[in-house]
Order: sequence, then structure tokens, then C-alpha cells
Amino acid sequence: MGNPLIDQDDVSTNLSNNQRFNDIVERVVSRRGFLLKTGTSAAAVAFLSSGLSACGGSDAAPESDSPLLGFTALPASTEDSVVVAAGYTATTFAPWGTPLSSDVTWKADGSNTAAEQLKQVGDNHDGIHFFPINGKSDEGLLVMNHEYSTTTSSSGYKDYLTLFGATPSPANSLERVNKAINAWGCSVIHIKRTAGAWAVVTDSSYNRRITSATPMLLTGPAAGDALLKTSADPSGTLVLGTINNCGNGWTPWDTYLTCEENWNNNFGTTVEPDTDGRSDAQKRYGIAKGNTGYGWEAFHDRFDYKKEPNESNRFGWIVEIDPFDPSSTPKKRTALGRIKHENAAYAIAADGRVVVYMGDDQANDYIYKFVSTGQYIAGDTVNNRNLLDSGTLYVAKFNDGAASGDFMGTGEWIELSMNNSALAANFSNLADILVHTRLAADAVGATPMDRPEWVTVHPQTNEVYATLTNNSGRTETDDANPRTANRYGQIIRWREAGGDAAAMSFEWDLFVLAGNPTIEHTDPLNRGSANVTADNTFNSPDGLGFDASGRLWIETDGGYTNTGNYANQGNNQMLCAHPETKEIRRFLVGPKECEITGLTFTPDQKTLFINVQHPGELGGSTWPDGAGNLPRSATVIVTKDDGGVIGS
Ligand code: FEO
Ligand code: CA
Ligand code: CA
Ligand code: CA
Repeated sequence: MGNPLIDQDDVSTNLSNNQRFNDIVERVVSRRGFLLKTGTSAAAVAFLSSGLSACGGSDAAPESDSPLLGFTALPASTEDSVVVAAGYTATTFAPWGTPLSSDVTWKADGSNTAAEQLKQVGDNHDGIHFFPINGKSDEGLLVMNHEYSTTTSSSGYKDYLTLFGATPSPANSLERVNKAINAWGCSVIHIKRTAGAWAVVTDSSYNRRITSATPMLLTGPAAGDALLKTSADPSGTLVLGTINNCGNGWTPWDTYLTCEENWNNNFGTTVEPDTDGRSDAQKRYGIAKGNTGYGWEAFHDRFDYKKEPNESNRFGWIVEIDPFDPSSTPKKRTALGRIKHENAAYAIAADGRVVVYMGDDQANDYIYKFVSTGQYIAGDTVNNRNLLDSGTLYVAKFNDGAASGDFMGTGEWIELSMNNSALAANFSNLADILVHTRLAADAVGATPMDRPEWVTVHPQTNEVYATLTNNSGRTETDDANPRTANRYGQIIRWREAGGDAAAMSFEWDLFVLAGNPTIEHTDPLNRGSANVTADNTFNSPDGLGFDASGRLWIETDGGYTNTGNYANQGNNQMLCAHPETKEIRRFLVGPKECEITGLTFTPDQKTLFINVQHPGELGGSTWPDGAGNLPRSATVIVTKDDGGVIGS
């Protein structure tokens, strides 16, 4: 435990750039054995950044000659536009309100009705996945999440910033609440590229909106349990809608996984607002007293936690959607636990079982994995579509390992079931554990992390990477979460024992400690690790994913003031990293006050889709439509001007 507080001046004096680079390379080469081979202080020294340096100065990390990162790094930007590396083009696509059906039109004053919104692309784009049609790279289904609608809290009561037009205003009618409900959830959008330009196939039978009112089923071990029954649904299996759909996942059997994150924010009460009345579990999941800013509880009793105390138990799940069948019923897979799900990343274990890695995005919450009971069988749709209903959920414990202060260690997966004696005495059954996943994880000694966001699995090595975005409230440190008041975040990675995703133990290390080497810090760790330089400085890694070649793409959702702690970091951005050399280059920067999130590629890796969420969340952007227009979340399509693979 504890920070090593290595003297950075000594580091920069004693180690030249080449020495540091060689040390990194040596670690890469011997990576699977480095826990045994590398001395603690040497490893920590190699990991850490040198001191203060000017932009473009001599302290920049040595450039790799690897062909993996083939583009020229982009400087930080504070422009109200999307900026992308030289030789690439970024095109706005399918912003909020884009018609999926020809009988609606986008009304630029924000006056589309709830009924119209049901036929339009939703608000606040987040996780995204391209499902090719017949394996093609020029036609497919683009499926994405619409996480929430941007609000302002200037008056203490949150008004919707743009959903009802240019003047921030509350959801003070059933029609307005229903417009919000219809603006959230997911979109399935049939898209096609003709003469080089992608377009929505308006009126396609594939086009679908899944909203916060779409009927869906609870399946798996907790389905039908008393904890999931409400007055409207005595079966405990039929839910209306999905909310706060943040990151995503997909399966090799062509389904989309949408992840319910900050659903607690939609539950409030209009009953006796001065009396608490929340259960300990509701408090642990962050349901707050009184009314919410979204206002849904005033018009739909199910969002009132006093009127329907079990309704909130029906959110916080991973939902599996078949995008190719517009009549299919989405399924909330209870076997994967109930948390504030960020995203879901699958791997196939050595024996064919399916593993799903997941993070719970809350300060000091946990990283999980699910291991299916059954095996994935390529092409066996009937078998595969039930795999996420039966299996075992585990939570991660990250130990400091042989030494503290070296940003690496060992880890173990702790079973969350009635087989675990630490749970058997205090939980009534598996459903109780799954509905109260956080409480179960609290009870077994899981490691509290710095806000787990996305998880992704290296396509060749099965090495797993996860973003820990920041944690301003951290007071106790460990090797995996080595900074108090962590404002910059880090990326952790682990290698399962024997390379088997179903293993019960692993080795881990930090891939990058994000930071800002361009300003002075009291805690030298805030300069970041050695692969953070004046040229790529960033904070709050969030979205994360590999492309087919093994480039690691990093997206940020953090401080964008470009001053103080965030000086020289610019707007939120997308970077690309080499998993072996650990070099990181900035690839794209978003418009003002946005988050860059979600990423997916066509099979040929020549079209990249990302999402720009909440541009102008403080009122400072008119992207993408320009002056005088409402800012809109949108997808951005990135292509390489020479038609090549993105990033090459
Ligand atoms: Fe919706 Fe944790 O990001
Ligand atoms: Ca250690
Ligand atoms: Ca996120
Ligand atoms: Ca975030």
C-alpha cells in the first residue's frame, strides 16, 4: 500500500529517454514473467514520467518505428469542431433527431413530439457497434446507445438543456416526459455506403428504436424473484424499457449488449419528500431522496421509489438485443449482475465457455466477470442465445503482489454465489446476490477501483484492458489505484493465468497513468507514466477498444477547461496506443464540452464510427449544425483519405 513518491528529478537525471525506452521494451519482451524478473524500483522508475516539459519538448517519449501507429499525432484542440489526424476525414452522421422513417422530419427548434421522437435517432449517443450485413463493409446495422438527455442544474432543479428547444426547460408534462423516454435507449439503424458516402436507409424494416418504455424480459437466475415483482408485473419478468444505456458490447452470435449505468438517477419520489424511506440497498445504489431532475416519477408511478420500491431492481442490468430481428424482445440478463454497468467485453475461454468482463462506474466500485456454464458453438444460434442466462459471476481483487509501489501485482476472481461462505449466511439465494451485486461484492473483499469504465480484450492475446477514469474522493491508495484525489485516471490490464479467460487468478499492471507533465504538481505521480508526454497529455480515459490489428483506442470523458490541472489537454479526445511499446498518440479531438465515446469498425477496418456525446453541455457549443443551432450528439464517421485501414 502507499505511493512510492519517487523523486522525479532523480529519475530524469539518471535515466535518459533511451534508457527508459529500453527498460519499457525489456518489460514488454519479458512481460509474462516480469513479476519475477523486474526489481521494484527499476520497474517503477521505468513506468514513471519525467518532469516538467514544454509542448513538443525534448521529453517527448521516443517515437516507435512500429507500423501499428501509422499516423502523425494531433495537437490538443479547443475548437468547436471535430479535428482528426492528417490524411483522415471525419464526417458527422446520424445526429439526434435524424429520421428513421420518412413520415417524420427533424425540427431544428427542438419541437419534435414524443411520437415523432420514437421514429428518430435518440439523444446523447454512447456505445456503438456495426453489424455487417452478409459480412459487408459497405452495409450494415449501426446499433447505438442513447444514454440520457443533458440537463442544467443552475436552479437546483434540472431543466433539459436542448430536448425541448433552445431554452432550458423542465419535463413538466406527460408529453415531455414521454419525449425523454423515447429519446433514450437504443437505435438500430440500417446504413449503406454508396459512392463513398454513408447514409441511413430511411424506412428500412431493420430500423428500430428501443426506448425506456419498450417491453423487455428479465431472464436468468433472478427472473421472477420476489425482488423483481411490481404491481404492474406480478410475474417479475416483464419490464418496460432500458435506461442510462452507457457503453456496450456485442457477442460472436451477432447480438448487441446495452449496459444500464446511472439508472438510479431516474428514481425519485413525490411522496413525503422530507422523509427518507429508502432501503440500504437503494442507498448503496445511489437512489437519492425526493424528486429527480428528470421528473419521470411525477408522471409514471413506476419511477417513484416509494410507490414501486421494486421497480428500480429491474434496472442496472445488461440487456441483449438481436438487431437483425426488429420484432425480437430484448432480454435483461440477470446472471451478469446488477450494477451501474459501463460496458461488456467478451472473451472465449480455453474450453469454449463465454466470459464477459464488466466494470461498475462508481468511485470505489468494482470490476466483474461472468463465466457461462455452457460453451459457445459457432453457428449454433439456439445454443448461443441462452449462454448469458446461466453461469457464475466473479468480482476482482487486485493485490499489490510481490512488491508495493511498482504499479503491478497479482489478482484473483472471487465467486459471487451461495457457494461462497461469505455470502451464504447473509443472502437468501442467488437472485438476492444478483439483484444486490454491489452488496455481495462489498462482503467478499473486492478491490475498490477508481471508477471502472470500459473493458476491452486484445483480439490476439486475450489480455484485458480497463479504464479507471478518475476518483477525486480516493484517500487510500494501492498499486492499482495509486493516487489520492485521482483526477487523471489510469488504464489497468491483466493477463489471466494460462491465458485462459475463465482462470481464477491473473497478473496485472498499469498500462498508463494518465497525467499532465506540462504543469507542476505536488504529487509527482500526477505527471503521469513515462508514456504520457506534453504531446499526448489527457485525462479521464473512458471509452476503450481494440481494432482487429491490436491497436488500442482510448476515448476521454474528463476535464476540458484547458486550464489548471487540465492545461494543454484541450477538448475531450481519442488517442491510439501500441499495446507493446505503450506509445500513445492523439488521433482525434471533439468539439467543445463533449465526451468522445463508443467505437466500432467495418470488417475491413477502413471505416471507424465513434460518438460525440453532449457537445455544449454547458451551453458553449453549436456543433455540428453551427451558429444559431442546438448542439446535437452525433456519430462521426472517420475514413482514411487513401482508403486504407484506420490508424495504419
Ligand atoms: Fe456513461 Fe461511465 O460512462
Ligand atoms: Ca506491486
Ligand atoms: Ca463512459
Ligand atoms: Ca465517464
